[in-house]
Amino acid sequence: MIPVNEPLLGERELEYVMECIRTGWISSAGRFIEEFEEKWAAYCGMKHGAAVSNGTAALQVAVACAGLKPGDEIIIPSFTIISCAQAVIFNGGIPVLVDCEPRTWCMDTEQLKAKVEDKVKKGDKKLKAIMPVHIYGHPVDMDPIIELAERYGLIIIEDAAEVHGAEYLSGRNGADPTWKKCGGLGHISTFSFYANKLITTGEGGMVLTNDQTIAEKARSLRNLCFRPEKRFFHNELGHNFRLTNIQAALGLAQLERMEEIIAKKRWMGQAYTERLQDIPGLQLPVEEPWANHVYWMYGVVLDESIGMDAVEFARLLREQGIETRPFFLGMHDQPVFKKEGLFQGESFPVTDRIARQGLYLPSGLAITESQINQVCEAVRRIILK
Ligand SMILES: Cc1ncc(COP(=O)(O)O)c(C=O)c1O
Repeated sequence: MIPVNEPLLGERELEYVMECIRTGWISSAGRFIEEFEEKWAAYCGMKHGAAVSNGTAALQVAVACAGLKPGDEIIIPSFTIISCAQAVIFNGGIPVLVDCEPRTWCMDTEQLKAKVEDKVKKGDKKLKAIMPVHIYGHPVDMDPIIELAERYGLIIIEDAAEVHGAEYLSGRNGADPTWKKCGGLGHISTFSFYANKLITTGEGGMVLTNDQTIAEKARSLRNLCFRPEKRFFHNELGHNFRLTNIQAALGLAQLERMEEIIAKKRWMGQAYTERLQDIPGLQLPVEEPWANHVYWMYGVVLDESIGMDAVEFARLLREQGIETRPFFLGMHDQPVFKKEGLFQGESFPVTDRIARQGLYLPSGLAITESQINQVCEAVRRIILK
C-alpha cells in the first residue's frame, strides 16, 4: 500500500530528542520550546510565537485572544476542518460561512466581501473577525481580506495549518508588492504540526502574532492561566495545551532544513501535474501568479462527466494499493451542526461539489518517484477505463 502520508525524519531530530532525554528536559520547559517559537515566528515574519499541543488548540487559543462576547460572529470558510468552527463555538461565538472558490478551494473573497458589506449595511455589530484558511498548501487571496478588515475594524485569524512556508504576493495592485509567508499576514495566525504536516512534532501547534499582549494571553491560556507572581492563583480559566521540549526539538530540527522540505513538496506537486494534466475531467491543483504553493496535499477533483464520485474513486485506488483521503465535508453538512440548526437554509455549492468529487493522493515527504508513477498510472487506468 502506498500510504497517503509518511513523515521523513532525520539524524538532527534524533540528536535533539536525545539531548532532551539525556538532560531530562522532556516536559513543557526547556531550550527547544523557546527556540522553536522564536525561529518559527521569525521564519513566518511574525514577532511572537506560543507553542501549543496541536492546531485545534491553537485555533481555540487564537479565537479566545480575539475576545468575543457571546453571540459575536467570525466568518470562516465552509470548506475546512471542524477545528475552525468549534474554536468559534467553544469561545461563545457563532461561525458564519462563506463558500470556497473553485480554483484554489480557498475562501471566496468576493462572497466574503458581499457578506461583510451586507452585515455592515444592516448595522449588524456582531461580526468581529474573519478566519481565512489556506487550503492544501495554497494561500488564500489575502489582499481583499486585509482591506475588509482594515475598513471595518475586523480581526484576521489566519489558519495556516496546511501551508508551512507557502508565500503570498501581498499588495500586488499597489506600488510595493511583497512576498510574505502565510501565517504572517493576519493579526493572529495558527499552525498544526501533526504528523502529516511539512514540519511535524508528532502532535503540536503554534499561535503567532505581532502583538505582545496577545502573545502573553496565548501563553497564559495554554498554561491554565497560571500567574507568574502568585502560583495556583487564577483570574481566568485556561487550558493545558502545552507542547513538550521533545516535540519542539523535533520541530526545530526540521525547521533547519525547511528549504529542502519545500523543494521536495514542490517537486512532488510538479511531478503529479506533469503526469496527470492530460486526463480529461480531472481538476488538479493550481498555483495562482500571486502564490507559492507548498503542496501539503495533492488534491484532485473529478468532473461529474467521469461518472464517479470520490468515494468510488478512493475504493478503486485502494484496490490498486493506493491510500487516499477524502476532501473535507462542508461545515453546513456536519450532523453535529445540523442538529443545532446552524447554517439552516444556506447553500455552499462549490464546497458540496468538491466535498463529493475530491480526494487527495499520497503526498507525504517520503514519497518516491516510482510511487508517484504508480499512483498516476492507477489514476489513468481508472479514469480512462
Ligand atoms: C486547516 C486546518 N486547521 C486546523 C487543523 C487542526 O490541526 P490538528 O490536527 O493539529 O489539531 C488542521 C488539521 O490538519 C487543518 O487542516
